[in-house]
Amino acid sequence: MAITIAIASGKGGTGKTTISANLSVALSKFGKDVIVLDADIAMANLELVMGLDGKPITLNDVLAGSASVEQAIYEGPGGVKVVPAGVSLDSFKKAIVIKKDVTITDKDKKVQLLLNKLKNFKIEGDVVRTYTGPVVTTFEFKPLAHVKVSKILNLQDDLAMALKASTIRIQAPVPGKDVVGIEIPNNEIETIYLREILETDLFKTQKLLF
Ligand SMILES: Nc1ncnc2c1ncn2[C@@H]1O[C@H](COP(=O)(O)OP(=O)(O)O)[C@@H](O)[C@H]1O
Ligand SMILES: [Mg+2]
Repeated sequence: MAITIAIASGKGGTGKTTISANLSVALSKFGKDVIVLDADIAMANLELVMGLDGKPITLNDVLAGSASVEQAIYEGPGGVKVVPAGVSLDSFKKAIVIKKDVTITDKDKKVQLLLNKLKNFKIEGDVVRTYTGPVVTTFEFKPLAHVKVSKILNLQDDLAMALKASTIRIQAPVPGKDVVGIEIPNNEIETIYLREILETDLFKTQKLLF
């Protein structure tokens, strides 16, 4: 007769993996035929505890239908059988990323609006560059020579109100440049997934600092 023991909790870090590892090895040493697996495929550290990481066929392959469960069973400490889930990102499903591109015309409109509002406050100049991130867009504003930078800084709240933005941030001047950075929240916030970052060439080619 087979008995299934599930060790579960809604909270992480409560000791599920540790108990599963210890209990499975103990039962195995008592002569039981034990198979242990980590159903938490997003954080499958049971195989690390068991010293069985990096196996070619894992629970992910079984769940994807490309391998049988027998192929994913490996022998661990004390004779316990382990089904590793694989800690590689490759078998982890990609999130469906919907890019909410800020269109050129959207940005142009915002630039015009910003320039008009600044003009209302008697500040003249031009937007020379824009950077769009997931949450805010930075407009680099180059004021005419006679405009005092402190005057722009003082306008933070008035400008936010005039642009109907919840909050804006003004960096005056941007270090090393002859421009003022005006950060305005985007209409829609974009979600950045960790996988996207880990898969960028920049991330792959940089040395980690820790
Ligand atoms: N009984 C315990 N006493 C002290 N520390 C424990 C105990 N059980 C687990 N830990 C530690 O707590 C942390 C989380 O344990 P882990 O088994 O990975 O949790 P979970 O699988 O529930 O996320 C680990 O650092 C582990 O070493
Ligand atoms: Mg765990």
